[in-house]
Amino acid sequence: KQLLLLNGPNLNLLGKREPDIYGATTLKDVEQEVRTFVEDRGGTMKSYQSNHEGGLIDAIQEARGTIDGIIFNPGAYTHTSIALRDAIASVDIPVVEVHISNVHQREEFRHTSLLAPVCVGQIVGLGTAGYQLAAQALLERKGE
Ligand code: DQA
Repeated sequence: KQLLLLNGPNLNLLGKREPDIYGATTLKDVEQEVRTFVEDRGGTMKSYQSNHEGGLIDAIQEARGTIDGIIFNPGAYTHTSIALRDAIASVDIPVVEVHISNVHQREEFRHTSLLAPVCVGQIVGLGTAGYQLAAQALLERKGE
């Protein structure tokens, strides 16, 4: 299987950004960890980060035909983006939504995900380990 690790706005600053909330691990570290995890299980992984909604939509559309599962931390677009929801709904690829922080312990506006209803599942509040858990779930998924 080939997975796509997709990260949205401000996640390029992982490790430097609000480390009390998001931890000290950088995005590069996460990408390396998840890639190793996937390759150890016979898969391959691509990764992409964008601060732009349109870049993320393009990446989801371009995944058609080659990607078997998407690990997606949409950042703040989780709570706002109908366009990203439509993009996920438009492709026949299982998407797991990942949040490093426990969004339910935070501000009210982070409690709602516009994307969760079109994702196969959601991993929240387990730190950067959540990305690897999402990869495991997608690799083990049957029928893809
Ligand atoms: C986040 C949670 C979002 O509410 C926030 O806007 C982020 C990161 C997380 O990983 O915990 O950018 O998706």
